[in-house]
Amino acid sequence: MKEQIEQLQEKALSDLQLAADLKALQDVRVQVLGKKGALTEVMKGMRDLAPEERPVVGSLVNTLKDQFETRFAERQAELQQQAIAGKLASEKIDVTLPGRRAVLGSKHPVTLVSEEIVDIFSRLGFMVEEGPEIEQDFYNFEALNIPKDHPARDMQDTFYITDDLVLRTHTSPVQIRAMLKHKPPLRVIAPGTVYRRDSDLTHSPMFHQIEGFLVDEKVTFGDLKGILTHFLREYFGEGLGVRFRPSFFPFTEPSAEVDIECVICGGEGCRVCSRTGWLEILGCGMIDPEVFGSVDYDSDKYSGFAFGMGLERIAMLKYGVGDLRLFFENDLRFLKQF
Ligand code: PHE
Repeated sequence: MKEQIEQLQEKALSDLQLAADLKALQDVRVQVLGKKGALTEVMKGMRDLAPEERPVVGSLVNTLKDQFETRFAERQAELQQQAIAGKLASEKIDVTLPGRRAVLGSKHPVTLVSEEIVDIFSRLGFMVEEGPEIEQDFYNFEALNIPKDHPARDMQDTFYITDDLVLRTHTSPVQIRAMLKHKPPLRVIAPGTVYRRDSDLTHSPMFHQIEGFLVDEKVTFGDLKGILTHFLREYFGEGLGVRFRPSFFPFTEPSAEVDIECVICGGEGCRVCSRTGWLEILGCGMIDPEVFGSVDYDSDKYSGFAFGMGLERIAMLKYGVGDLRLFFENDLRFLKQF
């Protein structure tokens, strides 16, 4: 019996030592001290012993049990330590690795153009106004002296929503809204999205314009020329050639179209300017007294000028973009360049 206990002791202690992880260690404990464990069996066998042998064996069993428990606790602590160390090693974060940068977007070229132009006019004291893209006939046409039978109202040009509602065909309705909202003197710059039933290489059914106008006492065509020439040279470059050609708009009288010296060839003549050396860049004129009439401004006291221009066209010229469609395709290889 004594020998059996000693063997058991040897095996149990070496098993403890061999246990490779906490689970294996727990298994060893069950094998020794569990309900059917080796030591439990020995203790059960004690009742068959002679009474004088019992204390001897009992003492051996107790010693073994104590030793086992002590070793078990030590080994358990060791393995727990190992487990933690392993976990720390495998979950270590290398803070010297370069991080993954969030990709920064860039502004759309049309947005850039709009912001730069608004910026120039802001410095001249113009304030930004906006209007709805779904517009009433009154603001888009009627109040701008575009009569019911004017060709600009033709179904070819205008997207009608109802008889009275259209997708605005230009930013000029913002003139009316701003003049109804504010009393003169007034200086307004109004960027926005506009729509026309037009789609080919140089026209998109949705595009962008910037509108500007100024109303005060004694405003002359000279003021119009001065401000627009200043703006164009500020935007395209000092000393840029600028010319005003007579034109027609229902809401301005007199009206003009403004050309700038071709920014691609410097006026030499190229494909972009159709060999003329000039590029048409905006429409403008003195605000027609009829328009003042529809917003109740006294046209004997006040005069003013207005202008409007297409932003995609300006972006094409400014950045040398040859194809209008690039602005609407949202190809990142294109957009990332700005
Ligand atoms: N609204 C005109 C257009 O869409 C441009 C313009 C604006 C002309 C203001 C004169 C004055 O073409």
